[in-house]
Amino acid sequence: MVDKAQTYQTLRSTALQCARCHLAQTRTQVVFGEGALEALIMLVGQGPGRVEDQTGRPFVGPAGRLLDQALETVGLTRSELYVTNVIKCWAFQPVGGHRQDRPPTAAERKACAVWLAQEIQLVSPRIILCLGAPAAQAFLGSRFKMTADRGRWHLTPEGRWIIATYHPAYVLRLKNLDEAAYQQTWQAFLDDFRQVTAKAREFQR
Ligand code: URA
Repeated sequence: MVDKAQTYQTLRSTALQCARCHLAQTRTQVVFGEGALEALIMLVGQGPGRVEDQTGRPFVGPAGRLLDQALETVGLTRSELYVTNVIKCWAFQPVGGHRQDRPPTAAERKACAVWLAQEIQLVSPRIILCLGAPAAQAFLGSRFKMTADRGRWHLTPEGRWIIATYHPAYVLRLKNLDEAAYQQTWQAFLDDFRQVTAKAREFQR
């Protein structure tokens, strides 16, 4: 029998060669998901940013550092999670001579869906925490609204629990803009992570 680690390596190395959409022409490298292949909890972001594009690892830039702070606050470590993104290549738009992150288009999401589907099948997490609206919409549909639907559990027919919270980059932007809004949002963000740890305890034997 082929073990999970072997399947993951094959899947990852196939994905690293992906040319299913035009982002293959502008990326430095594919940023595939990583972490515990037996994880109860999977974190899904929208897509790699500049730092991830350079390093090839998910959530290692400024948003990733804020994510790590939230994980530490609620007593989670990356080594027990699987962390990935809806799309695996950096999507950006030119703004004033710079490349600025942008959410993936429907066509990019569709082209990339095959990788996330296989990651979910392989890891088979009981809980999926969506970071930001594009990730939440990939699981919960385009009617998902962060203002109304954040922090609510959804049970899939496969028995996975899905919940969405803010994207860490959004929380980070507030930190530099509006201290009161940041404090409130940070606490709500932590509350969502605490819901995840509480749900995970239901599955731990
Ligand atoms: N933002 C994301 O959505 N994913 C990453 O990996 C990094 C930043």
